[in-house]
Amino acid sequence: MDTLIISNFKEENLEKILEIENKISYNQWTRQMFLDEYNNKSSFFKIAYIQNNIIGFIIYRIILDEAEILNIVVDTPFRGKHFGKELLNNAITDFLNKNIKNIFLEVRKSNLVAINLYKEYGFNEYSIRKKYYNNEDAILMKKTL
Ligand SMILES: CC(C)(COP(=O)(O)OP(=O)(O)OC[C@H]1O[C@@H](n2cnc3c(N)ncnc32)[C@H](O)[C@@H]1OP(=O)(O)O)[C@@H](O)C(=O)NCCC(=O)NCCS
Repeated sequence: MDTLIISNFKEENLEKILEIENKISYNQWTRQMFLDEYNNKSSFFKIAYIQNNIIGFIIYRIILDEAEILNIVVDTPFRGKHFGKELLNNAITDFLNKNIKNIFLEVRKSNLVAINLYKEYGFNEYSIRKKYYNNEDAILMKKTL
């Protein structure tokens, strides 16, 4: 079985992260957005490896006792193997260790895979931002720890 190793982002990882992000057809993060989060003291940028290959990442921000998941991506060949769950689990363990009370995120209404993932982890929809992504609604989700 493939063991997932999760560790902190390093600048040398950026090209591979951009390659993975650029395969997503919508709402792509730019190089600068990744670097901004890397340089943001409130942000956590974690990289997932299998056998020394980067297969995904998660980025979240923590402010006081609240966390916001900003981005979570598993590279296309590795999807559906529960690595997304492992990344989310790793983040939630970190939130519990840091005494976070509420976790927030937003997701495209059409992104049923991500919505299913979040629901499985006990996230509930609490609001909608109409046409937030150009022409598509954003679903705002929250989980209380
Ligand atoms: C969302 C994403 C990170 C999930 O990662 P993943 O490794 O493929 O997901 P997992 O294998 O861990 O599956 C987790 C859950 O997601 C849901 N899911 C996964 N694949 C699915 C599919 N094809 N259809 C419907 N639900 C699916 C299921 O609830 C699944 O749990 P289960 O297998 O126990 O039923 C991945 O699809 C991705 O990178 N998508 C593009 C980026 C993105 O949209 N990120 C979210 C931004 S808000």
